[in-house]
Amino acid sequence: MSDPTPDGWRALDRYFTDTLVGAEPGLDQAVRDQADAGMPAIEVAPVNGKFLHLLARIAGARRVLEIGTLGGYSTIWLARALPEGGRVVTIEAEPANAAVARASIDRAGVGALVDIRVGRGEHVLPTLAGEEPFDLVFIDADKESGALYLDWAARLGHPGTVVVVDNVGRAGRVADPGDTSAQVEGTRRALELLASDPRFEATALQTLDAKGWDGIAVALVV
Ligand SMILES: C[S@@+](CC[C@H](N)C(=O)[O-])C[C@H]1O[C@@H](n2cnc3c(N)ncnc32)[C@H](O)[C@@H]1O
Repeated sequence: MSDPTPDGWRALDRYFTDTLVGAEPGLDQAVRDQADAGMPAIEVAPVNGKFLHLLARIAGARRVLEIGTLGGYSTIWLARALPEGGRVVTIEAEPANAAVARASIDRAGVGALVDIRVGRGEHVLPTLAGEEPFDLVFIDADKESGALYLDWAARLGHPGTVVVVDNVGRAGRVADPGDTSAQVEGTRRALELLASDPRFEATALQTLDAKGWDGIAVALVV
């Protein structure tokens, strides 16, 4: 098998997306509204959104925690996976992003399941400590704080909680010792914590989708 060319992997991602994800009006509109509001197109790719959705269903998740809402695209995918009475608590630092997300989530019909907490993760996470534990945690905010967010994921989860960390590949830069950018260093600290912290069992997968070459870490709280 030959290595993928950009044209080749984009065509395959389109094929997977068209074949297995298809048009999703509420989700597609959320992406358009995010663009119209001038927000960056840094939501997960459709195949990854559906992956999160399926993972939540496979895990039988009832309570989901997301760090990094943006325009609510991944939030809608996650909320659609929940049973009646389920909840997504999603944390977003930028009030303007949270407002766009709120409108898109409501229009997608899952507003009653989603609680958006506006503030920085480091400030909001401690306020969740008294709540019922989360069954799935999706970490997709500032990459510098990945290790801090993982520590909170373990504290706010329970044995069996699934944790997903986005953007752990960064086009291969995470494996380049010469790259000492804050985002890459933060990602390495997060992966090292997953490797050394006895609260987790983890692995990571490279991804090559509409968003380029990256990766996700998947962990279980043990
Ligand atoms: C990659 S985007 C999230 C994408 C979203 N999960 C999706 O796939 O649709 C990251 C988001 O995290 C937010 N963010 C950045 N730093 C943050 C922090 N310290 N606390 C909470 N949110 C933060 C950004 O404002 C941005 O909206």
